[in-house]
Amino acid sequence: MNDTRRSILESLADGPVSGPTLADSLDVSRAAVWKHVEGLREDGFEIESGPDGYSLAGIPAYNGPAIEYGLEAPFSVEYHESIASTNARARELAADGRSDVAVLADEQTGGKGRLDREWSSPSGGIWVSILCRPRVPPARAPLYTLAAAVATARTAREAGIDARIKWPNDVVVPVAGDDLEGADDEQVSGDGSYRKLSGILTEMEGETDRIQWLAVGIGINANFDASEVPAGSTTLREERRRRANGGRHENGNENESHEDVDRRLFVQRLLEEFHTLRTDLERVVPAWRELTLTIGQRVRVELPDETVVGEALEITEYGGLVVDDDDAGRIMVSAGDCTHLRPV
Ligand code: BTN
Repeated sequence: MNDTRRSILESLADGPVSGPTLADSLDVSRAAVWKHVEGLREDGFEIESGPDGYSLAGIPAYNGPAIEYGLEAPFSVEYHESIASTNARARELAADGRSDVAVLADEQTGGKGRLDREWSSPSGGIWVSILCRPRVPPARAPLYTLAAAVATARTAREAGIDARIKWPNDVVVPVAGDDLEGADDEQVSGDGSYRKLSGILTEMEGETDRIQWLAVGIGINANFDASEVPAGSTTLREERRRRANGGRHENGNENESHEDVDRRLFVQRLLEEFHTLRTDLERVVPAWRELTLTIGQRVRVELPDETVVGEALEITEYGGLVVDDDDAGRIMVSAGDCTHLRPV
């Protein structure tokens, strides 16, 4: 959103302001004010004209300008109702030399998950890829993925969900022992099972000493029912319903529910948290440790040509997982598919 439009919205938020007053304070013509007001209306802002001037009566529920308005982080937002994959779009923007763009979609028709899996992305979710160009060596790239996991978990916690992190970057919700419906049998933490709320797929290009660009793709199951995503997954709507029903799961039949999160505010907080962490990378791993369920768990980590099974001991400064493998002893794994197992 350009600065003049942002200033107009900020002025109108405090009450009606006349066109001439806006023109004077912004040092533009009255015709330019009128044009900007029309532009903002086209973006979905409800701007009323009354005897005292213009006033802001409503903000669009979920689109690019709505998220940019009031966002306290330096990202522009490119919004799509429907797109194949926000990560694929971020790649195109990277090829055009862009940076600090959040590509956001209501629905993805070809969402990509880790390990070349498909990622179900129905309408109502939060599907976002953050494109940036950090000036750090590629070895530090995993910190951006961990930062995204921390940002997602923190934002979900602000929305009332007990979100935690499973190494390396799944955001999950622990399941109480008497509430196992919808949780995969094998997914077991010390406190019970877990359901997956969000996954992250980071793609990048760079040389040995420098990252060229990095796109952190975050998928958050938000305002739809868990029946639309694979078994073992959950959604923000589902978890908020569960909480409202005192832990019991009750199906809702509506397309919209009063348990839905405000996706505009959610994405704003997510981008702000991610920005705070990316500007202070030293804080990422300590913040991740505070939120993880994995350390101390018995885990199985699938690597391309071996499987590690043992106790998860710690996370290294760049996000690798140290496991006390049953056969090989202490091993550090930097990437892989991790499942928490029942204790032996
Ligand atoms: C995983 O397998 O857990 C990672 C899933 C990542 C999905 C997100 S949704 C936004 C972005 N666009 C994609 O196509 N994938 C990522």
